[in-house]
Amino acid sequence: WKNVSDVGIDAIALSVPRGYVDLTELAEARGVPPSKYLHGLGTRQMAIAAPDEDPVTLAVNAARRLFERSGASPAEIGLCIVGTETAVDHSKPVAAFVHGLLGLPSACRMFEAKHACFGGTAGLLSAVDWIASGSARGRAALVVCTDIARYPLRSAGEPTQGAGAVALLVREKPRLLSLEVGQTGTFARDVHDFWRPLHHKEALVDGHYSVQCYLDALEGAYDAWRRLDGATDEPLVRTCYHVPYGKMARKAHRHRRMLEGATEQAADASFMVEVEPSLDLPSRIGNVYTGSLYLALASLLHTQARDIAGQRIGLFSYGSGCCAEFFAGRTAPEAAALVDRLDIDGPLRDSRQMTVADYERLRAEDADADRRTAPESARPRGKANEFDRAVYLGVD
Ligand code: HMG
Repeated sequence: WKNVSDVGIDAIALSVPRGYVDLTELAEARGVPPSKYLHGLGTRQMAIAAPDEDPVTLAVNAARRLFERSGASPAEIGLCIVGTETAVDHSKPVAAFVHGLLGLPSACRMFEAKHACFGGTAGLLSAVDWIASGSARGRAALVVCTDIARYPLRSAGEPTQGAGAVALLVREKPRLLSLEVGQTGTFARDVHDFWRPLHHKEALVDGHYSVQCYLDALEGAYDAWRRLDGATDEPLVRTCYHVPYGKMARKAHRHRRMLEGATEQAADASFMVEVEPSLDLPSRIGNVYTGSLYLALASLLHTQARDIAGQRIGLFSYGSGCCAEFFAGRTAPEAAALVDRLDIDGPLRDSRQMTVADYERLRAEDADADRRTAPESARPRGKANEFDRAVYLGVD
């Protein structure tokens, strides 16, 4: 049992729903100039989950793909954490369904982490600390971020929806990204910028205030990170931000660079090199809440793993409410070869465009799905889990 210093993300895989809405079509349907969504918000498409694509299904599909593509085995997992703000039960964690459906070992700690979009990072950093402390005893951790981002139809938040899951394999001597263990800058404050009361399927948000809360949290976390004992001056060649929509990452980068003394023009010029490559997948899938930062990382590795081999990158996670963390890592020299095998954007090739009318019909049909209950007499004995989940999903 000994401390481990080289810990990080060994492999990454996504899953997305079958359907997406094109935001030019949504803009036309809402009577908004398409340039507002495409350039004003930096979004192109948003993935839409059907009733049979709940957060469990998305999580399990991403994790299965992770094991198939990375060559890792579920038998190696000693910790399974699911970050989500789209839980399917107040008590039973999504992690339990994932554990069962993947056949993870019984000697495995599992739980769900909830803190708005920060839940995935809470899971990742807990897994890193578990391995670094030696408690893992050579085992690996599975961290899955899974969410469905929903706002009311015709609301300002509507074009920033999305859905999907990102699965991360966390272990010693990672093949993608070594994280700087213990070197994180944290910021927390009790704010009411975004929330989803129990039994609401759609989030409520004070949109412009939430943007300000994000920027304040970035400032606090980045400042804390820069002041850490042992902080180095080695530059970050790229930075991945939490991406509720692409423009937010642009605002964040400008804010961070200007804190360092850059002009607005210089900050925007560095955005094209340092951030833009991480925004392709987010712009095609939308906000995936807990997975959003890791979708940006997946996008960066997918497009530039060769160019940034051995180099240092920054990561910024924000969860409304709020908690934020800034941290850094180094891309592994062998990352590019593994990225080719992981086929990170493979799941997007199977997704199909749906019309705005189909999307609206789908939303109308499952509006009350959470509230459906089944009579006790109709429950098959010993099958409560599957039956309740079927009722939740609204399927036979
Ligand atoms: P809005 O009020 O409809 O948009 O909603 P706006 O009027 O502020 O316009 C947005 C941008 O488009 C502006 O640019 C306009 O100038 C521009 P900016 O000033 O921001 O640079 N624009 C145009 N550009 C080109 N052509 C045009 C045009 N018209 C306008 N014709 C808002 C925007 C983000 C508030 C809304 O979408 C919303 O409420 N989204 C949901 C909340 C959100 O994503 N907040 C982000 C920070 S909080 C966060 O990240 C946490 C979160 O992920 C949840 C969690 O933690 O769990 C959300």
